[in-house]
Amino acid sequence: MLNVTNVTKKFGELTAVNDLSFSVAEGQVFGIAGPNGAGKSTLYNLITGLYSFEGDISFKDRNISGLPPHKIAKLGISRTFQIPQTFPSLNVRQSMGVGSYFGSKNGYQKDYVDRILEFVNLADKQDEMTGQLNLLDKKMLMIGAALSTKPDILMLDEPMAGSNAKEILKLMDLIQRINQDLGVTIIIIEHFMKVLTELTEKLLIIETGTEICCGDPVEVTSDPRVIECYLGDAND
Ligand SMILES: Nc1ncnc2c1ncn2[C@@H]1O[C@H](COP(=O)(O)OP(=O)(O)OP(=O)(O)O)[C@@H](O)[C@H]1O
Ligand SMILES: [Mg+2]
Repeated sequence: MLNVTNVTKKFGELTAVNDLSFSVAEGQVFGIAGPNGAGKSTLYNLITGLYSFEGDISFKDRNISGLPPHKIAKLGISRTFQIPQTFPSLNVRQSMGVGSYFGSKNGYQKDYVDRILEFVNLADKQDEMTGQLNLLDKKMLMIGAALSTKPDILMLDEPMAGSNAKEILKLMDLIQRINQDLGVTIIIIEHFMKVLTELTEKLLIIETGTEICCGDPVEVTSDPRVIECYLGDAND
């Protein structure tokens, strides 16, 4: 469904993404991990059209390299950000509607927004201003707004960051339901290895923009190269 082929991104002297290639299959939950500064968020910025790059990215057999972000969103790729972003002047329902209005192929659909409000457990908070929400609800809203574009792929950037154990379980449950009940393919960047081994079917590890290994999450997380570059300090 998504094919990334020999993709490189340089910021001046710094190579943030270095000749990366991987494929995400339809229906898969695909994980990406690596130390801070490995190039994970930059990779999302390339897939979603924020920066130019060398190499090719194709989605549903169409080359999307060089397309602007709004076109890529309309083709069916949606994402969240590492730091939850909401619209402070809008309430929860309106914020959710922005994704539906601007991002989806068919424009604003009230029934679908209602369904997503229920799906992310925000139906009873739909009239609250987004600034009033706690961190978990802000994350739920950001994920809901991404879903309201009716994506084929949802790309999550460290959705568990700053969450406690109970919140992590809620977010894991939500991600599984998005994948299974809504049939959305998921790419997830995450630092928590336990989350990745439980949620994902395939896991890519990168360091300084370069692939360390890619494959079955249990095998990947026991690979000595991964333990050395990453798990040593993250899997305490
Ligand atoms: N717009 C930019 N201009 C210059 N350098 C950048 C830019 N965006 C990212 N970088 C650099 O590219 C490298 C990769 O950054 P990136 O944010 O992709 O890492 P990451 O894997 O998401 O890290 P983290 O786990 O901390 O979120 C870093 O060295 C970062 O400083
Ligand atoms: Mg990042």
